[in-house]
Amino acid sequence: MGAVHVRTPKNFVLEERLERYADAIETNPEAYAGDWREACAPAGSKPFEHLHLDLGCGKGTYLVERAHREPDTLFIGMDQEPICIAYAAQKICEQGLSNALVLPRGAASLPQLFAAGELDAITINFPTPQPKAKYAKKRLVHVDHLMLYRPLFSAGATVTLRTDSKPLRDYALGQFAAAGYDTLWVSDDVRRDHPEHPETEYERRTREMGAAVYGICATPGAQPSDEQLAAGRAQEQSLACYLPDNLDELAYVPLGMEEAVENFRNRARKGKKRLPQES
Ligand SMILES: C[S@@+](CC[C@H](N)C(=O)[O-])C[C@H]1O[C@@H](n2cnc3c(N)ncnc32)[C@H](O)[C@@H]1O
Repeated sequence: MGAVHVRTPKNFVLEERLERYADAIETNPEAYAGDWREACAPAGSKPFEHLHLDLGCGKGTYLVERAHREPDTLFIGMDQEPICIAYAAQKICEQGLSNALVLPRGAASLPQLFAAGELDAITINFPTPQPKAKYAKKRLVHVDHLMLYRPLFSAGATVTLRTDSKPLRDYALGQFAAAGYDTLWVSDDVRRDHPEHPETEYERRTREMGAAVYGICATPGAQPSDEQLAAGRAQEQSLACYLPDNLDELAYVPLGMEEAVENFRNRARKGKKRLPQES
């Protein structure tokens, strides 16, 4: 989870937890591709109307809150971290939700988990920012990830990014454009502009540290050209490139970028230029 680690109590035994909350965890999700809405509907009920994926769901607070509010939508949380899956499954079971479940998978598995046109929305809440250039491909808003999501979307589907990192959001704007998405909104204060989004665990922790929430909501538009895609991939830089020139303006340093900001501040103090490739 990068700079933020999932804390577990001393007596936390992962395998026990995964077993105890197994009802909310699908360990063979590939078998349901194309059939989620129908297969997960409670016996005797009609299929769910919509399918929403919370990618990198963490401990599941957002997922369960949305599931409570929207009973006709099936909410699927995905996380590559089994501890997060255990916590999210616990919430789903304890709250008795029949329209939410979690999958222990990473984003690369998406084409095997969902059929073409099956997803109505993806939320990416506070993704691991991966600020270093060498890990740019791991960013869940990298152009190649955005291209992976495209075929899975139904007409009019949306992908929403919310993050405490303005550099990540600004980088993502270029990636969405490169992958041929049309932007529905961009916000420097998602809490004010889109208060319908429930608060996540990570959001609460960063809010207490003074963070704002930056966001983008987009929908797939025309297929991008090869040149567009290449331009997106050419932006595989450090997120430090997106920091403001005057670091005094930076009241909150996004988690994971402390080192880069400190390096830049030291260089500025010594009257030297920035070397973003070093961060
Ligand atoms: C900073 S946490 C945020 C969790 C949650 N969305 C929240 O806002 O509290 C980022 C989460 O993304 C997950 N993650 C990172 N890369 C992923 C990937 N490629 N596929 C699935 N999950 C991923 C991590 O395991 C972690 O739980």
